[in-house]
Amino acid sequence: GDYELGGYPDYMAKEIAEQPEAAQRVLRGRLDERLGTARLDGLRFTARELRGIRRVKFLGCGSAYYAGQVGAGLVEELARVPADAEPAAEFRYRNPVVDPDCLYIAVSQSGETADTLATVEELQRKGGRVVGAVNVVGSAIARECDSGVFLHAGPEISVASTKAFTNMAVAFALLALTLGRVRDLSLAEGRRIAGALAELPERIGQVLAESDRIASLAGRFADAEHVFFLGRVRGWPVAREGAQKLKEISYVHAEAYQASELKHGPLALVDPAMPSVVLIPDDELAAKNLGTIEQVKARGGPVVAVTTTGLAVPGADEVVRIPSAGPELDPVLLTIPLQLLAYHTARKLGRDIDKPRNLAKSVTVE
Ligand code: G6P
Repeated sequence: GDYELGGYPDYMAKEIAEQPEAAQRVLRGRLDERLGTARLDGLRFTARELRGIRRVKFLGCGSAYYAGQVGAGLVEELARVPADAEPAAEFRYRNPVVDPDCLYIAVSQSGETADTLATVEELQRKGGRVVGAVNVVGSAIARECDSGVFLHAGPEISVASTKAFTNMAVAFALLALTLGRVRDLSLAEGRRIAGALAELPERIGQVLAESDRIASLAGRFADAEHVFFLGRVRGWPVAREGAQKLKEISYVHAEAYQASELKHGPLALVDPAMPSVVLIPDDELAAKNLGTIEQVKARGGPVVAVTTTGLAVPGADEVVRIPSAGPELDPVLLTIPLQLLAYHTARKLGRDIDKPRNLAKSVTVE
């Protein structure tokens, strides 16, 4: 085909490396830095309709669900509109209450996932307003939704989603900004977020430049039987996606926990053989996260902290640093070192990275 590997050993490496350009594409023509807002013309909503949205719910499977969770955080934070994410299959089978004032967003890279498509149909039957956040133009979900936002990540071949996940999160930041600016988000704050979004592709490139350093940490994970990914609030969906990536391509057992829940059970599992990856955004909860490191270290657990360049992280055995895009957008950047961590661990273990056992790129049957 015309979608070649180039010099890369596999598609996952290629797709990770493509993220700066992919992010550029999802942003193109959609940011207004002067007015500190965004425009998502594909949604086909007037400002009045945007203001009428009382709730936002993201629905998807796997990484699309975790990206939705990042999106829900952004919508609540920037627009102060209640938002959440739910796995599409859970939603469709529990006979959900469909709220006419809720904006439902069907999130899917392929646009073909059976449970997500069925969720769209169920919502339409019950009068829900559902839009797509889809990568593949012309796919079933894109056709079924009358409007939406295309992700423009380009073809994603590797089963483990990377650039599509990032573009989902960036698209949801654009949505959150749009919703915020027809509500209470100030011009100055809107401009700050729009400016940070414009710079995001470059920042992603800076994170990717750390690939060798992250590769050098992979041995810790390749030798482990279990790994914790710990994060709270902004770091929590990032931790979930990080655990997902590690288990799907390296087959190392990984679990994500809210760092705040550690002492209520999972701390019993921590020992010198079980490393923890602790996500530490440079936000008002940084001190709490440093406390989490202490809790893990006190039980002899090795800690790899993933944080921004500005924050001192005493106590961690290893620290991976990313340049900050501001606390709201840092979850997008914090995800990228975790892709690299999973990737290099899987390589060290000799896994079939693009086609992990038992998994399919898109699950089109139930
Ligand atoms: C499969 C893939 C995952 C993906 C999920 C949703 O399980 O292995 O990587 O996140 O489907 O796919 P979608 O195409 O709907 O985003």
